[in-house]
Amino acid sequence: MSTLQGKTALVTGASRGIGRATALALARAGAHVLAHYGRSTQEAESLVAEIRANGGRADAISADLATPQGAATLAKEVQAIIGERLDVLVLNAGISKAARLADYTVEDFDTLFATNVRGPFFLVQQLLPVLGEGSNITVISSAVARTVVGKPGVDNPSILAYASTKGAIETLVKNWAAILGPRGIRVNAVAPGVIDTDMSNFTKTEAGREITLGMQALKRLGKAEDVADVVAFMASEGARWITGASIPVDGGSKL
Ligand SMILES: NC(=O)c1ccc[n+]([C@@H]2O[C@H](COP(=O)([O-])OP(=O)(O)OC[C@H]3O[C@@H](n4cnc5c(N)ncnc54)[C@H](OP(=O)(O)O)[C@@H]3O)[C@@H](O)[C@H]2O)c1
Repeated sequence: MSTLQGKTALVTGASRGIGRATALALARAGAHVLAHYGRSTQEAESLVAEIRANGGRADAISADLATPQGAATLAKEVQAIIGERLDVLVLNAGISKAARLADYTVEDFDTLFATNVRGPFFLVQQLLPVLGEGSNITVISSAVARTVVGKPGVDNPSILAYASTKGAIETLVKNWAAILGPRGIRVNAVAPGVIDTDMSNFTKTEAGREITLGMQALKRLGKAEDVADVVAFMASEGARWITGASIPVDGGSKL
C-alpha cells in the first residue's frame, strides 16, 4: 500500500547503505525522493534511475555536509526542487572512525561532529520554512548512543567519538521534538545495531561476524532494508502518535 503518495522526502547520504535502502523504501511508498549524496555520484545517479524505472519520482543532490556551508547549500537546492513543502526528512548521512584512545586527532573529532551533528543541526534549521503540520524527521542514530560495544581497553580500538556524536544527536531529537511538536512536526530517532554496509567493514571478516552475532538475540547480520522499513513506517501516518522516541532496530543487541 502506498502511504506516502504525493509526499516529498529528503534522505541524506542516500547514495549507499542505509540511506539508499531508505530512499528506495520511501519511493516504493509513493514519495518524491530527493536523494542527497556527498561524493558517490555514480551510485546516486543509479539510485535515481532505479526509482524512475519503477515509476517513481527522484532527484539527486550533492552537498558536502562536513563543510560549514553544506547544510545551507543543500537546503537551498531542496527548496528549489520541492517548493514550499517537505513532508519527510531523513537525517542519515554519517561517518564513523575506530581508533585507540591515544590515536584520535582533533581533526578526527571535529570531522565526526561536523558530519554527524553540525550538518543535521543546521539542515533542520535551514529547512524550517518548508517543514509544517504533518511533516516528520527521522534521524539515524545508533545503538552505540547508549551501549559500549567492542572490548573496552586503552590498547583496543574504540568508536567512542563516533558513539558520542550519536548521543548528541539523540539529545537533539528530544529537543527538536519538544520545540517542533506544537507545529505538528514529529521528530524521532531510529537506532540500528550492526548493519552490513560499507561503514561496518568488520562484518566482512569471520571474527567480526562472530562478535556481532554474539551480541544479538537474532542470529544473522542486520541489513540496510531492516532499517529502511522502520524508517518508512516512522515517516508514515501509522507513526502519527510517536515523537521524541528512539526506536532500536538491532536484532536484540546486548539485551
Ligand atoms: N552500518 C552500521 O552498522 C550502522 C549502525 C548504526 C548506525 N549507522 C548509521 O547509519 C547511517 C548510514 O550509515 P551506513 O552504514 O549506511 O554508511 P555508509 O554505507 O558508509 O554510507 C554513508 C552515507 O553518508 C554519506 N556521507 C558521509 N559523509 C558525508 C558528507 N560529508 N557529506 C555528504 N554525505 C556524506 C555518504 O555519501 P557519499 O558516499 O556520496 O559521499 C553515504 O551516502 C550513519 O549515520 C551511521 O552512523 C550505521
